[in-house]
Amino acid sequence: MPNAYTIVDHTYDCVVVGAGGSGLRAAVGLVQAGFKVACITKVYPTRSHTVAAQGGINAALGNMGEDDWRYHMFDTVKGSDWLGDQDAIEYMTKNAPQAVYELEHFGVPFSRTPDGRIYQRPFGGQSIRFGEAQAARTCAAADRTGHALLHTLFQQALRNKVEFYHEYFALDLLMDDDGACRGVVAMCIEDGTIHRFRAHVTVLATGGYGRVYHSCTSAHTCTGDGNAMVLRAGLPLQDMEFVQFHPTGIYGVGVLITEGARGEGGYLTNCNGERFMERYAPKAKDLASRDVVSRAIMIEIMEGRGCGPNKDYVELHLEHLPPEILHERLPGIMETARICAGVDITKEPIPVVPTCHYNMGGIPTNWRTEVVCPRDGDPDAVVPGLMAVGEAACTSVHGANRLGGNSLIDLVVFGRAAAIHTAERLRPGMPHPELRRDAGQESIDRIDRLRNARGSLTVGQIRTEMQKTMQHYANVFRNGPTLEEGCRKLAEVAKSLEDVRLEDRSLVWNTDLIEGLELQNLMLQAVATIHSALYRTESRGAHAREDYPERDDVNWLVHTLVWVDDRYQVRFDRRPVHLYTLSNEVEPIPPQKRVY
Ligand code: FUM
Repeated sequence: MPNAYTIVDHTYDCVVVGAGGSGLRAAVGLVQAGFKVACITKVYPTRSHTVAAQGGINAALGNMGEDDWRYHMFDTVKGSDWLGDQDAIEYMTKNAPQAVYELEHFGVPFSRTPDGRIYQRPFGGQSIRFGEAQAARTCAAADRTGHALLHTLFQQALRNKVEFYHEYFALDLLMDDDGACRGVVAMCIEDGTIHRFRAHVTVLATGGYGRVYHSCTSAHTCTGDGNAMVLRAGLPLQDMEFVQFHPTGIYGVGVLITEGARGEGGYLTNCNGERFMERYAPKAKDLASRDVVSRAIMIEIMEGRGCGPNKDYVELHLEHLPPEILHERLPGIMETARICAGVDITKEPIPVVPTCHYNMGGIPTNWRTEVVCPRDGDPDAVVPGLMAVGEAACTSVHGANRLGGNSLIDLVVFGRAAAIHTAERLRPGMPHPELRRDAGQESIDRIDRLRNARGSLTVGQIRTEMQKTMQHYANVFRNGPTLEEGCRKLAEVAKSLEDVRLEDRSLVWNTDLIEGLELQNLMLQAVATIHSALYRTESRGAHAREDYPERDDVNWLVHTLVWVDDRYQVRFDRRPVHLYTLSNEVEPIPPQKRVY
């Protein structure tokens, strides 16, 4: 058995870290462009969190009635509360139909209309003719769209001979003195060997960091490992204060009930049986944008109109819908509601509360998926050799609030874009500069310190403290004094990492070590999130400050950049929002009041 210090070197044209929808789509595209590609993934690809996506993927196909990618663009910009970069949003929405047809040809088993076209359901924040009426834009494979998409993309990756490194945990970027990324260092989870992957291009597709919260819809693996690697490399993250709370997580367990349930005709009520969304969003009602619905639910609960003995949830009704529709279109949530809430959705409502679901913030990139970091007065300066896609990235197509169904389309459009833009710049088989002899040593030292940690607290104890702190102080509603208290409390929790104890120090499977490394990653992002929430003194999209209830375009129509160092000290800067488009096919959409 090799020991923890055995170092194995690999050389590739490109390395993709992560094997969810965006990582697999990037890897397939890169191989098809002739590159030698490694895909490093800490879980077997079909366990990546994309598998959990339920409701669908947005593209203006117009299969259920009128639609146009310009309407999709308008809705996305409005949904983002104007913080989204409009060049990137134009690129995503214009390329979305082609990306969905490509998935169809790859083999995704989409649900069908009676005449055989891809079935599309209404989702929140969708409209035709720039807000006039509800659109039905979300292409669905029943309520298991992510499962269908991920398995299909994995089959394509195997067919294209992507070289997988399954169950390898990426530790750090290999950064050169000139600021370029030369690859990544990873650990084989099974035997603890260290692997240095040299590459011209490193694509981070490592997903979100939902697990900083106590109640979330994310898998336990969603620890934002790529985001943390970026921070450790001395690069910033962007817009970390924007955390999406999905309106309908199952009460007490946080498991997702798809927005597609409301798209198919479900509705929410309070303890008086009132359809309260009619008061908050008279036009869109239960299909208002997610941030709007989540805030409405929290207000109902805070004002004493919640349901149940503690008045701390609301109810999602589907029992009025024909059982055959529920069986055909929502089979997954029928099962989930039965198992997780003991509810038969054909007969009774599901108890739900807003639950952390998605991170709009992440690694700043341009629409080509190149990572950017301000340099020499250029806010959009590219970090050579580094790209980011999917939830790890802040491209920023979601701005301050993501629309349901825009996550899966983001994955495939920008996964494909990463391959296209790499092929435009590089040729397969180009020579590599030498790596520093000690490349990766800092990562080895870090895991060595952690493996031998003999403190008094377990990883689980510290993680729970962090999650509860975030849940309490950085939830749907925030305000200055509680955020300040939360920052102080979180600093203490972060400090307690010095007192961690690893239970299992064997080199086989390294389970405790991996959880410790994941906790280090989560902690950096928790600090980035809560400090960014304190920094932004306005309310926009998912960031609702009680002490600054209005959007403030004069001071805050900017992206937040945050750096966090190894002592959890934070530093901020700002980057302009791209309020321009790529082509003359569409005009930029100037900021307006956002009503549904
Ligand atoms: O509600 C849902 O099905 C989630 C979709 C999404 O987050 O895009």
